[in-house]
Amino acid sequence: MRNFNEDNITDAVLARLSGCRDDRTKQISEALVRHLHAFVKEIEPTEAEWASAISFLTNTGHMCSDTRQEFILLSDTLGVSMLVDAINHRFPGGATETTVLGPFYVEEAQDFKLGDNIALSQDGEPMLVEGTVRDTAGKPIEGALIETWHADHHGFYDVQQTTGKSALDMRARLRTDAEGRFWYHSVVPAAYPIPNDGPVGKMLDAQGRHPFRPAHVHFKVSAPGFETIVTHVFLDGDEYLDSDVVFGVKDALITPLKKISDGVSPAGHEVSGPVALLIYDFALPTKTK
Ligand code: BEZ
Ligand code: FE
Repeated sequence: MRNFNEDNITDAVLARLSGCRDDRTKQISEALVRHLHAFVKEIEPTEAEWASAISFLTNTGHMCSDTRQEFILLSDTLGVSMLVDAINHRFPGGATETTVLGPFYVEEAQDFKLGDNIALSQDGEPMLVEGTVRDTAGKPIEGALIETWHADHHGFYDVQQTTGKSALDMRARLRTDAEGRFWYHSVVPAAYPIPNDGPVGKMLDAQGRHPFRPAHVHFKVSAPGFETIVTHVFLDGDEYLDSDVVFGVKDALITPLKKISDGVSPAGHEVSGPVALLIYDFALPTKTK
């Protein structure tokens, strides 16, 4: 085939895919070509605009390193990460809602005991986090692994700070007790901007968008025989709950911070001095495959 033009080039490219060795590769390649050609036909870019699009993607690649993943930020800020999350976690009713993992998860975080303080070198308002892990019928899960991480009261994660502080901080691995309970001490996290000194930051600026995420605590909760839940608990009242730059907020994940003073927390843990209490109960769906 020759003589390609606006009207026949899409079909010509699709025809060229007929020899794909793998059905899924064929399906994905065909959809990519159809949608990409439709996009170009809709926007009718000038050559300068198309060159600038290619330069944006090139710069996005150049921004990536072992500690910075600009393409994930691009996917997050265009709502694609949350779309992929929704498609892949169509859990039954009663299961805890999921949200994006984000770039600050560290697999090899330190193990802590229930009740430990996981904020090793942080100032900030003391926070007690307590809750349970159950199945969707309400039965407690003993020994469930809770991986938790969050930003400090200035909105920075440990991995973003290099001076004078503990390398890994405000992150922990904990196991639930026989009644499926967990609890730990830390400091109240603040809202923060996602890394915005690269191409994605420039894109947000050009789109008239702010780069902030509302204050939250991350959780990855897993147990044998159950689906793993990756989620956050958001602090109620945060000004960015309705405009999270990565579209990660769900009503069921928002919880109020209750202030308590000397005494005993609802789950029976002794508290000395004022503390902000964050309570969340997780429900894991049974593994299907
Ligand atoms: C986070 O919550 O850690 C996060 C998620 C997406 C992009 C940047 C940060
Ligand atoms: Fe976060």
